[in-house]
Amino acid sequence: MEKKECKHVAIIMDGNGRYAKKQGKPRTAGHLQGADNVRSIAIAADELGVKYLTLYAFSTENWKRAEDEVNFIMKLPKMFFDKYMDEFIDRGFKMNIIGELDQLPKATLSVLERAMKRSKNNTGLNLNICMNYGSQREITLAANAYAKDVLEGKKELGIDSQGFEEYLMTKDFPPVDLLIRTSGELRISNYLLWQIAYAELEFVNESWPEFTPEILKKCLQDYQNRDRRFGGVDNV
Ligand code: FPP
Repeated sequence: MEKKECKHVAIIMDGNGRYAKKQGKPRTAGHLQGADNVRSIAIAADELGVKYLTLYAFSTENWKRAEDEVNFIMKLPKMFFDKYMDEFIDRGFKMNIIGELDQLPKATLSVLERAMKRSKNNTGLNLNICMNYGSQREITLAANAYAKDVLEGKKELGIDSQGFEEYLMTKDFPPVDLLIRTSGELRISNYLLWQIAYAELEFVNESWPEFTPEILKKCLQDYQNRDRRFGGVDNV
């Protein structure tokens, strides 16, 4: 069978908190281990030929969590990039941060901006981290921006879906081919609703810190066995 390209993988990295609790540790220990796992899985994805890896690190709904936990997650990018950015540069990774970044704490934002700036000319794996991201917000903002352009005479009424994509935060990336969610929940949780229109879905029982390169490989093998018809029919 011909190999199907899997250019863009998106992951909902769920289960950090439960994983830590199971081991008698605070939830934040799970997030720390989860951040370390981002490195392993990014490297594995790159080696397996993935070109875009988009990870859900913090949603627009996650602000509802305990203040301590939110503060900890906001400090993770610094710990993460201090530890791994040089290696990512060596590997040619290009960092992109997706979300409403202006609402992040200043210190977090400056770390993220620096990572993007340092890697902006890289041509390897696009490692996209979603921070303060919510898909309904993204689509609403896009609709507002389009309406504004129409009112100001910059755009005609009646764009098609391709034209609308230009207003999304992911305008520079291809559609998602494969969406993976860890930790056994069967939900999309307001993640990339537009971009996963024709994505294949994989739900795995392991929590994010337990998600290994082997499991990623298995997901990509499953993907090879899917019949992607994009609404059409098989040629028989
Ligand atoms: C979901 O697990 C996880 C999060 C909300 C945070 C995810 C963040 C990381 C994995 C680290 C991000 C890395 C960088 C580089 C910023 P959960 O806490 O909802 O788990 P639970 O369902 O067991 O409570």
